[in-house]
Amino acid sequence: MKANAKKLADGVYWTGVLDWDIRSYHGYTLGGTTYNVYLVFGEDKVALIDNTYPGTSAQMLGRIEDAFKKEGRELNIDVIIQNHIERDHSGSLTEVVKKFPEAAIYCSDKAASGLVEHYPVLKDSKMEIVKTGDTLDLGGKTIAFLEAPMLHWPDSMFSLLVEEGILFSNDAFGQHLCFSQRYDNEVPEYVVMDAAQKFYANLVTPLSPLVLRKFAEVKELDLLDKIKVIAPSHGQIWTDPLKIIGAYSDWATGKCKDKVTIVYDTMHYSTQKMAHALAEGVMGQDVEVVTYFLHQDERSEIVKDILDSKAVFFGSPTIFNGPFPSLGDLMYYLSGLSFDRTGFKKLAVVFGSKGWGGGASRKLSQDLSNCGFEVEESFDVKYVPGEEDLDKCYEVGKTVAEK
Ligand code: FEO
Repeated sequence: MKANAKKLADGVYWTGVLDWDIRSYHGYTLGGTTYNVYLVFGEDKVALIDNTYPGTSAQMLGRIEDAFKKEGRELNIDVIIQNHIERDHSGSLTEVVKKFPEAAIYCSDKAASGLVEHYPVLKDSKMEIVKTGDTLDLGGKTIAFLEAPMLHWPDSMFSLLVEEGILFSNDAFGQHLCFSQRYDNEVPEYVVMDAAQKFYANLVTPLSPLVLRKFAEVKELDLLDKIKVIAPSHGQIWTDPLKIIGAYSDWATGKCKDKVTIVYDTMHYSTQKMAHALAEGVMGQDVEVVTYFLHQDERSEIVKDILDSKAVFFGSPTIFNGPFPSLGDLMYYLSGLSFDRTGFKKLAVVFGSKGWGGGASRKLSQDLSNCGFEVEESFDVKYVPGEEDLDKCYEVGKTVAEK
C-alpha cells in the first residue's frame, strides 16, 4: 500500500504502523496504538529496527518503500535489528526475511532462540547474536547494543544510534497512543505522560528494581549524555529523554503524590454511597482523589492511578462471604504487579456493605496485606449506610488524607 515514511534525522526514518482501531492491548487502548519501526541508512548498509504486529505489515512495507524513494536508494535491507521478540514487534519478520533473504538478524541470544520458537521457518536464517558493548558499523552510522533482560522479556535489548544519539528502546518508555504526529511535543503533554504512566503501571511496575539497575548501568557506561532522543516502539518519540527517565525513576522508587484512589463495586448502591462519602472526606483536606466504579471502569486505567497514589481505598459489598468477583479480579492483578517492589508501602482502606455475616472486608484486607499494602482501616455497614455511617466514612477519608 502507498504510505508515508517520516524523516526523523539525516538517513533515519519512522516506518511504523498506526493501529487506529485496536482497543485492547495490555489493557484498554483508547484511540489505538502504534508499532514503531525505524529505518537507518548508512553509507554501506541499511538497518531496519523492529517490525510490526502480524497482519499489519502492508503499512510498514509501504513506508519502507517510501523511505528508500526519498533517499534515492535501491530497495534493499541489509540488517534487521530485533530488539524484542514479542509479536507486536516481530510479527512481520518472516515477511521481511522473505523479501530480503540476505539480511542478517541482529538480536540477543535469548531472542535468537525465541524467534525460532515463534517462527520455525527462521531456523536457517542468518542471525548475529549481540551483547552489551557490541557495535555495528553501517557506514557513517554506528549502532551500539545494550542488553536489557526482563525489561520486559528475557530477550529485550536497546539499540543506540551513536551519531544522532537516538535510543531505540523498544517497549521501554512506550505509550499506547496513536497520533499522526510522531514526537511528544507535538501533542498535549498531559496525554503523553498519562499514557506513559499507564504503560509503566501495567507492564513495568513489578520490574521496578531492574529499571533502577539499568539506569545505574547506563550511567556507569557513560551513556546518559549520549542519549538525545528516545524512540520507543509504541507511541510518541521523546524529545527530552530526561523527562521520561525522571518519571520512570519516580515510579520505580514508589514516589507518590498526595493522592487517594478509590475503587469500589456496589450491589444496591450502599457501597457507592460510602465511596462518595470517603471521597468527600479526602477532598476536604485538599488532597487529590480519583474514584473508579469497577462495574464500568477498567483495571488497566485503575492501576495507572494506583501507581502514584499514597493511599488506595477498596470497597465491596459481601457476596458468598467474600468480595464481588470484580474485586477478586483486581486483587489477582495487584498481586502480580507488586507495587511494594518500588520500596513504598501504600496505605489501604477497606469498606463495604453487608447483609448478615459479612466477609468482603475481611478477605480484601487479607489479600491487600499479601499484596504489600498497609491496611489502615477496614469496616463495613449493615444493609444501607445511615447518616452516622456516612459521617464515619467522611472522617476516615479525612484522617487518611491528613496522614
Ligand atoms: Fe510491545 Fe513486549 O511488546
